[in-house]
Amino acid sequence: MFWTILSILLLTYLLSNGRHKWIYILYKTLPRDLKAAWRFIKLNHRISTWVKNKTTVASSFARLVKQQPDKILFYYEDEKWTFLELELYSNQVANYFKSKGWKKGDSIGLLLENRPEYVGIWLGLSKIGVVTALINTNLVAEPLLHLLKVADCKALIYGQDNSTAVAGILDSISELTLYQFRGDIALDNAISFSEAIRNEPKEAPIDVAEITPKDKLMYIFTSGTTGLPKAAVISHTRYMYAAVGIYNLADLSPQDVFYNPLPLYHTAGGMLAIGLGVVFGLTVALRKKFSASNYWSDCQKYGCNVSNYIGEICRYLLAVHKPGTKVEHPVQKMIGNGLRPQIWQTFLDTFHVANIHEFYGSTEGNCNLINIDNTVGAVGFVPRLATEFYRVIIIRCDENTAEPIRNSEGFCIRCNQNEPGILVGKIIQGNARSEFTGYADAKATEKKILKNVFQEGDLYFNTGDVLVQDDFGYFYFKDRSGDTFRWKGENVATSEVEAVISNVAELKDTVVYGVQIPGSEGKAGMAAIVDPENNINIADLAAKLKAHLPSYAIPLFLRIMDSMPMTSTFKLKKRDLQNEGFDLDAVKNEHRIYFYDSKLAQYVPLSKEVYQAIIIGQIKV
Ligand SMILES: *[C@@H]1O[C@H](CO)[C@@H](O)[C@H](O)[C@H]1NC(C)=O
Ligand SMILES: *[C@@H]1O[C@H](CO)[C@@H](O)[C@H](O)[C@H]1NC(C)=O
Repeated sequence: MFWTILSILLLTYLLSNGRHKWIYILYKTLPRDLKAAWRFIKLNHRISTWVKNKTTVASSFARLVKQQPDKILFYYEDEKWTFLELELYSNQVANYFKSKGWKKGDSIGLLLENRPEYVGIWLGLSKIGVVTALINTNLVAEPLLHLLKVADCKALIYGQDNSTAVAGILDSISELTLYQFRGDIALDNAISFSEAIRNEPKEAPIDVAEITPKDKLMYIFTSGTTGLPKAAVISHTRYMYAAVGIYNLADLSPQDVFYNPLPLYHTAGGMLAIGLGVVFGLTVALRKKFSASNYWSDCQKYGCNVSNYIGEICRYLLAVHKPGTKVEHPVQKMIGNGLRPQIWQTFLDTFHVANIHEFYGSTEGNCNLINIDNTVGAVGFVPRLATEFYRVIIIRCDENTAEPIRNSEGFCIRCNQNEPGILVGKIIQGNARSEFTGYADAKATEKKILKNVFQEGDLYFNTGDVLVQDDFGYFYFKDRSGDTFRWKGENVATSEVEAVISNVAELKDTVVYGVQIPGSEGKAGMAAIVDPENNINIADLAAKLKAHLPSYAIPLFLRIMDSMPMTSTFKLKKRDLQNEGFDLDAVKNEHRIYFYDSKLAQYVPLSKEVYQAIIIGQIKV
């Protein structure tokens, strides 16, 4: 009793004394840190069992099939798929490709809409060691070709809805075997996939090369923050690590039912959501394409108590929801990325979801963070004291170039609390949590690695993202540096758009960047084009951009100018361009600004009226 009173008095005294800030911080964060530590220990325990047992995604799934063959794995429209059904389907896929001589290390592209068979296909291929390249279904022309090339695909499985895109590049992929998933075959030489596997044995394939957890499972394409899209290598370990991270840190259980409307070729939908099903035995409801007006009713229909989101989804859900009406839904937890602090509280007040697990991470990176205590706006935390155990650190960088700033000894400098900088994570190869498995392209891999950061010889993964950490260790996402921007939930590589514009218009100079639009997630594309002779054909440019780029990558604004703004040392003032954006008052008189009207598929001159309408949200972008 005496000691209790004494410690309360002591604590009160210390807390009232501003100089003892650290005690206050400890008192505020200890429960949180203990909870996180406990979940982290469980997570690591599970990973070490997997390592010991040499568990692969397929072997872990097979174990679930034995335990719960008749449990529902997928809901999809009005279909139900049990664990056993998906296992048998994937065995047929494996047996077919094995019989055709496919072997470990080969790769096959998959260009198909969300559906249960999507998972069955890559799972089946993984059983014989064939790597599946998951391809964004929005792609056409060069970007599509580029992905097939970097992943070295020898075959492509495509859906009927995407046969036009495949037809468009047919001449350049004559050496690939083409499989159309289902439906009338429109392309010469294409084989019907469903027919091909229909009579294959449903037993697991035998006499196959040994598959280890370190082997490649799939490629997921990412724009990262540099250069053209790259094929991120997803090993079995990496896949399972992503799933276990979410499972343990968001405290899920096998009884949960998960709603996933996100595309299966991205990490969030294809790895996190599906991983919960195939590695942890949850039921997952899939949707072919996200729809804001069906989100909650789907969750209701399938009884989903957990769902996922990206920032855009949250905004769309708020937009279609009539203020004042109550939404009935069973969702208790939402897991995702990109919910902005500005709408977070409104979202909670409107939809009453008990837990929002906002996370930060990238497909290929080693810096993963997740919010486990509903701190509004945060993407997670690492207590400053725990940095020794989990080396995810914000370092000082040049505001213009986003290059790390080094001290007189050549090392990087850690930011103070509340000081924005670039997030980096220490690479420890062989440790699933901290390794960087890189890209299919070694040179691209090299570019993302920082050397000699805090010590001679150490290696860090450079996320290229600007974050800030507060006194309590919470991280907040600020911005993305580098040469990509995010629009409509997709990362766009500026160099890719620049390449298309230069090709199309034989222009001297083009620079592409993202600009902010009030009330929209991410940044809209804008292209500044040098054209002093004033002979650019805008209508032609619009038509060509539409033919060569997915819709989200087409610049929403053009800025036609006489010369590029340069610094005295001939560096492009991209940041100035970005800050001026499409603001007619900020842009010089002699510059012309155009706005892409997606209904007309044309660029129209940006007038004061159109500008205003975009700013107040009257024109939807
Ligand atoms: C690992 O292997 C052991 C022994 O073979 C087995 O009892 C255990 O269930 C396995 N654990 C996992 C998670 O696969
Ligand atoms: C590919 O198919 C999906 C699913 O039906 C569709 O949403 C998408 O627009 C198609 N892509 C192209 C480039 O036609």
